[in-house]
Amino acid sequence: MRILLSPDAAGAGEIAATLVAASLRDLPAPVLGVATGSSPQPLYRALAARVHAGLDLSRTTAFALDEYVGLPVDHPESYHAVIAREVTAPLGLDAERVHVPEGAAADPVAAAARYEAAIVAAGGVDLQILGIGANGHIGFNEPGSDADSRTRIVELAPRTVADNSRFFDGDAGRVPTHALTQGIGTILAAREIVLVAWGESKADAVARAVEGPQTAELPASFLQRHARVTLVLDHAAASKLS
Ligand code: F6R
Repeated sequence: MRILLSPDAAGAGEIAATLVAASLRDLPAPVLGVATGSSPQPLYRALAARVHAGLDLSRTTAFALDEYVGLPVDHPESYHAVIAREVTAPLGLDAERVHVPEGAAADPVAAAARYEAAIVAAGGVDLQILGIGANGHIGFNEPGSDADSRTRIVELAPRTVADNSRFFDGDAGRVPTHALTQGIGTILAAREIVLVAWGESKADAVARAVEGPQTAELPASFLQRHARVTLVLDHAAASKLS
């Protein structure tokens, strides 16, 4: 794994935006995997500035990692809404080419299969942006997830519900208990992966992902299997690396 460091989150976002722009710039039909949450926000801001300055991402197809089950798509914290607000609009993407798992589908198993098929039909993901949970999850692949798992319904870990309650007025009772997420196998099929992490709360998960054994107990450790992974970290997130 390649590790790039910046003193702060904004700097990490700049570095990650440079990587994303360089990877996508010359592709005729780029496919970008996008994450939600706090981690990629500095990256999206830095990328949006480049779009403002002339970078054209309008031919990019995007696939989100995950979506809550049980939130209507027009709920402000649904990932449909978050991706539209934080990714599609600021990056100048074509909304028709932006895909988010159908967490509200009546048949989630069929929806998961459709999502996998849509990624394959698009030619696979050229670059996947990731954050990491404090418990080492990627996407919503919580501890216990298999390395070859694919898009499916999962139950969120108590730690994830607690962490994400900040998006629901601090009320853990309002955080959905389940999500439809790309699997670890789905994520590892991307040709390149850029993981952004900042803040002391991620330091333990980052250190275990990079230096620990590959284990389902720390799903991000399976990123060690991928040939082109870059972690872009601020000093706090890197503070437990040896
Ligand atoms: C988001 C996702 C999650 C987050 C992780 C970190 O689509 O799949 O894995 O990346 O929970 O969240 P933040 O960045 O909010 O700390």
